[in-house]
Amino acid sequence: MTYFAEQNSIEAVNGRMSVDAPPRLRRVMAALVRHLHAFIKEVELTQEEWERAIDFLTKTGQMCSAERQEFILLSDVLGVSMLVDAINNRRPAGATENTVLGPFYVAGAPERQMGDNISSDGKGESCLYTGRVIDLQGRPIAGARVDVWSDNAEGFYSVQQPGIQDKWNNRGVFITGSDGKYEFIGIKPVSYPIPNDGPVGQLLRLLGRHPYRPAHMHFMVTAPGYQRLVTHTFVGDDPFLESDAVFGVKASLIAPFERVQDGRTVWRSYYDFVLAPIE
Ligand code: BEZ
Ligand code: FE
Repeated sequence: MTYFAEQNSIEAVNGRMSVDAPPRLRRVMAALVRHLHAFIKEVELTQEEWERAIDFLTKTGQMCSAERQEFILLSDVLGVSMLVDAINNRRPAGATENTVLGPFYVAGAPERQMGDNISSDGKGESCLYTGRVIDLQGRPIAGARVDVWSDNAEGFYSVQQPGIQDKWNNRGVFITGSDGKYEFIGIKPVSYPIPNDGPVGQLLRLLGRHPYRPAHMHFMVTAPGYQRLVTHTFVGDDPFLESDAVFGVKASLIAPFERVQDGRTVWRSYYDFVLAPIE
């Protein structure tokens, strides 16, 4: 029997795990302990730094509520959310790429008629969003559910401003017909800061990082037999495209936003969503 020591710390902790523990848990916990101990040894963590880390994690937990998930925000700014998303959404070439869901999705948005306006506060520059939901062979997918949400012209999602914005402002669900087409009117979204009045915001400031996300429209596209697509389309000329606070940008998701003269809206954005089949 050997007691815990710096030199054998990983084996000392992992050796305590029961061989009867669930195999996946054993694998994940063994790797976590290995990497965590290696990290602490590499930086030679001081007692004071350990206390600051505990304090930071405590404050992160205390910031969490039904409306605010500071731990997910921490995962987002560390690139962990996007890494997990990438590993779990590897798709065949040609399929639309996933990106982070974010904290502002609300299930149960009203189902609207094709072409409807999702923006009810009368703010911002109107934009016609149009395109198709298709499969890898380019065939239209009928009955696809296109759930969309964006911030308002002042950079806030409706859930961030209860009592100020209508709950379903800049949100809606559209169901494609046999042509696979979707069409709705929203606003040209604006870049906005992620919530930064908590420990994660403080960390970003200490690191000299800004909290902004480039302007985007969120889409969740689902259809029977196809993998769920959670993504955004990004406005191409946004100054934060290359420094998104949560690393959500992918080149393939930068969509054209064109000024229009004649139409019902000031802007028009066309984007086709290509769904991959469930394997
Ligand atoms: C969003 O795009 O809504 C979002 C994503 C991650 C963190 C904060 C906001
Ligand atoms: Fe967003």
